[in-house]
Amino acid sequence: MELREVIGRRRSIRFLLPHKPVEPAKIQRMLEAARIASHWGNVQSLRAVVVRKDSAPPEVIEAITAPIAGFQIRLAPVVIVWYLDTSAVDAQSQRLRELLAAGALGLGAGKQEALETKLIPIFDQLRDGLKQPGLSEIDCGQGIAQATLMAFEQGLGTCCLGTPNTDKIRERLGLPAHCRVLLLQTVGYPAESPEAGGQRPRQPFEELFHLNGFGKPFPRDPEVVAGLERDGLLQDPAPLPWREAELEYLKHALGIKGHGLL
Ligand SMILES: Cc1cc2nc3c(=O)[nH]c(=O)nc-3n(C[C@H](O)[C@H](O)[C@H](O)COP(=O)(O)O)c2cc1C
Repeated sequence: MELREVIGRRRSIRFLLPHKPVEPAKIQRMLEAARIASHWGNVQSLRAVVVRKDSAPPEVIEAITAPIAGFQIRLAPVVIVWYLDTSAVDAQSQRLRELLAAGALGLGAGKQEALETKLIPIFDQLRDGLKQPGLSEIDCGQGIAQATLMAFEQGLGTCCLGTPNTDKIRERLGLPAHCRVLLLQTVGYPAESPEAGGQRPRQPFEELFHLNGFGKPFPRDPEVVAGLERDGLLQDPAPLPWREAELEYLKHALGIKGHGLL
């Protein structure tokens, strides 16, 4: 599948087959994709604990089964707990040196000295601020997005889930105090059709993106839109006409109680 179609067909899969295990190699490929994502200063603060329902201790499963994440956690054979290790920022100077040695950073004979005497001191002053929520979360998001596309490309379904139980999860997983739990991501084989009801609604392009300043919409060329439709990046919007029937089927097939919102 081409990249544009992968981006277009990916969607959050909330209904997973609970009985079908996920091959470790597929999870590893997700993690490999996350690892090579872009990070500011190549700091690499994204970390994960993979929780397999068939082998994880009950207290770990209990900690990730927050009421707000609901039935999705119960169905998923695998849940990836993505977290951010703020101590990665402490080694940032070293990461910059590695980038320089790799030829990714700087130009010419004096670059080594400029790195040590100019660039690194600037970052040293910002170090504590850079551990606060902000840039590093964006890094982590990039990695999680790459893992998500890799999961999709391998036939898996995923859904990101926010959780209020970050302290409890950190404690039960044994994560150090300086780590921030970011997100739970359910992983498994989809019980839904590949369309999963169609492409989910988005705000109008013109309201989201501007040219040269706020208030002047970035022009949206209909020919580009048509090309992206042909390529599969833009797809039939949700809901497809049979979606409610599919949801009814899933409710019964998976024994979901209630409205499937919690
Ligand atoms: C950071 C983040 C947190 C999310 N948290 C939840 C959640 O708690 N529960 C849920 O059902 N979906 C959650 N989602 C999935 C979004 O609802 C979903 O991405 C959005 O509705 C768009 O649908 P799509 O992913 O199929 O394009 C989350 C997504 C992200 C990126």
